[in-house]
Amino acid sequence: MAQKKVAALLVLLVAVVGSTMAATNAAKSGKSRAEKIKLGERLTYVGGCNDCHTPGTFYGNPDAKRRLSGSELGWEGPWGVTYPRNLTPDKETGLGTWTEEDIVRAIRTGQRPDKSPLLPPMPWPMYAHMTDEEAYAVAAYLKSIPPVKHKVPDRQPAHGTATGPRLTFPPPPGWDMQHAAPTKS
Ligand code: HEC
Repeated sequence: MAQKKVAALLVLLVAVVGSTMAATNAAKSGKSRAEKIKLGERLTYVGGCNDCHTPGTFYGNPDAKRRLSGSELGWEGPWGVTYPRNLTPDKETGLGTWTEEDIVRAIRTGQRPDKSPLLPPMPWPMYAHMTDEEAYAVAAYLKSIPPVKHKVPDRQPAHGTATGPRLTFPPPPGWDMQHAAPTKS
């Protein structure tokens, strides 16, 4: 009988220590997955990702059902023509096959998994200022949103033959180009 009591106490002790350790680990890693996703969602709003990557935003009517599924409005400049890409987890047309590390590397260093650079106007030099916690929260959020099948047009080289709606940058005014070369912020 006494032995049974000791055994029961031991089980209880293990359970208490176990749950304390779990709580400590959660505290160490900071946030729960849900909290991380919530932070990531907020950062995509304040970071302006929806401006370019959600259809309709620049026309005053962002489509919440197709959030971050890419846009067909091109951006034309000396780099050619680029199109804000589909950031939803669709495997064929979005970021479905990218890992969270791939997403973090792209938004902080401007490099895709295939090593090609992210061209303007994707403002990755600004996002390079994100902390690990922030960048991984954005990646977790992008992995959590509903996948939308949408293939954005392929980017075009400078002096290519792009057709379709696009914003074309005029030559820069003097004030805007007092530097010899683009500088990192
Ligand atoms: C000013 C417009 C603009 C804003 C703001 C913007 N992006 Fe982009 N983004 C682009 C364009 C354009 C591309 C495509 C660049 C290219 O083709 O090289 C792109 C590409 C990407 C890619 C690469 C995807 C792929 O399939 O290659 C990722 C990831 C990305 N953006 C994430 C983000 C996130 C996250 C935010 C907000 C924190 C954001 N972008 C804000 C315009 C923007």
